[in-house]
Amino acid sequence: MAEQQVLAPLHVAIVMDGNGRWASKRFLPRVAGHKQGVDALKRIVSACPSRGISVLTVFAFSSENWNRPAEEVSGLMDILALALSREVPKLQRDGVQIRFVGARDNLSARVKKGLEDAEKATADNAVLTLNVCFNYGGRWDIVCAAARLSAAGVPITEDSLSGALSLAHSGDPDLVIRTGNEKRLSNFLLWQAAYSELYFSPLLWPDFDEAALDAALLEYTSRERRFGKTSEQITGGAASGA
Ligand code: IPE
Ligand code: IPE
Ligand code: MG
Repeated sequence: MAEQQVLAPLHVAIVMDGNGRWASKRFLPRVAGHKQGVDALKRIVSACPSRGISVLTVFAFSSENWNRPAEEVSGLMDILALALSREVPKLQRDGVQIRFVGARDNLSARVKKGLEDAEKATADNAVLTLNVCFNYGGRWDIVCAAARLSAAGVPITEDSLSGALSLAHSGDPDLVIRTGNEKRLSNFLLWQAAYSELYFSPLLWPDFDEAALDAALLEYTSRERRFGKTSEQITGGAASGA
């Protein structure tokens, strides 16, 4: 009889969307939603190890988010800098290794230093890898990787390109969750999500909690990941041609 796959996803990626709407519903400025979003992220980071998740990759600021009003962009930069200065000791205690994925050249010296210090301080931690995609875009990532390979005279293959991408240290996500009731990738992990399971939550990111994460994980366990094969090949059923 076919066995249902019940393995928890090792690598979960999340598009943390809906902060602005969370704030608007409360007649608060959008940055208040982003601040609340940091609390939601802290909750989910703490929940990962006990659920067997060893890599969490989150989308915090996209290449396209520079197009938002200047006040919101600078508010987001301030929230990141403040969160880093406050949260690194806790990440240390919990064994979380934080890594930032994205372009650094157009970030301020203050933000850049915050990212570097947090990465250095947590570099030896091994309970959970937290990849924060900040100033990140999937197209940026693919173009940079291809340009680097071509400058080095390395032939472009699926393997060489995968290895040159900014998330190569973590591999591809098993599950991609997007909150905020939108059903698109918005330039997130375009290459790496080729065979990820997708899960869309109607919750706004600040409202996403452990129970919501568990609902996504439960749904994931009911999926059959076929990677192009037939169901019979995966389950070892009677019609298997494997
Ligand atoms: C996601 O929330 C956070 C960032 C993009 C920085 P939004 O700010 O996009 O929230 P909505 O989609 O406007 O509600
Ligand atoms: C995607 O959300 C980026 C992040 C969550 C950081 P957006 O809110 O920017 O995406 P669009 O503009 O609705 O596609
Ligand atoms: Mg949004």
